[in-house]
Amino acid sequence: MGKDVIIALDFDSKEKTLAFLDSFVEEKPFVKIGMELYYAEGPAIVREIKARGHKIFLDLKLHDIPNTVKKAMAVLARLDVDMTNLHAGGTKAMMEAALEGLTRPDGTRPILIAVTQLTSTNQERMEADLLIKEPIDEVVLHYAKCAAEAGLAGVVCSPLEAGKVHEKCGDGFVTVTPGVRFADGDVGDQARVTTPAKAKEIGSDYIVVGRPITQAADPVAAYRRCVAEFVG
Ligand code: C5P
Repeated sequence: MGKDVIIALDFDSKEKTLAFLDSFVEEKPFVKIGMELYYAEGPAIVREIKARGHKIFLDLKLHDIPNTVKKAMAVLARLDVDMTNLHAGGTKAMMEAALEGLTRPDGTRPILIAVTQLTSTNQERMEADLLIKEPIDEVVLHYAKCAAEAGLAGVVCSPLEAGKVHEKCGDGFVTVTPGVRFADGDVGDQARVTTPAKAKEIGSDYIVVGRPITQAADPVAAYRRCVAEFVG
């Protein structure tokens, strides 16, 4: 699996997004479009960024009945994104249906990955609100295993979990990891963070980096630093 840095385009408008992307002249970074930008601008922003030559991870985290997710995925496949995702909590039946919907008539499809437990969910909330009593690390690994059994390509997880996910699901199972910060940077609201170099050591396949690049005084230099540390 080719290692890469994915920039989280957490902007609320097309203008801000394109102004940010305009600063990249030599590189065409792999980018992530999440709910904020997608709900603000709709599928047109995906087409526009794709036409500029970027690879796109469409991070919409689908979770519904299998038939609805299957049909929604068929629509997303036509947007020609490179990677998209759903919640593993929707069950294996939902993940299998999603994969079917996402597969184009020619057999190709975007990389489909699953969200396990969100990093905002802790042991206490999982037990009290979701009535799941197992240790959260085991829950994350179990969801990863279910995703693998359903035929998905990988999971979103903490870089600190990437090694264990590979042990359980195989080296080819993709780990996409947010929560990345430079050693000398601000942690912000991310609780469990790691540096790009450490994420590489643990075995992440893709790191998702937002504010350390988007809010940097020189975003291109920050992106290059990430690539140098993570890809080498
Ligand atoms: O700005 P920052 O580098 O923290 O951005 C990380 C990105 O990854 C954000 O788009 C955030 O929503 C996303 N993400 C995350 N943790 C997860 C799943 C997604 O930070 N568990």
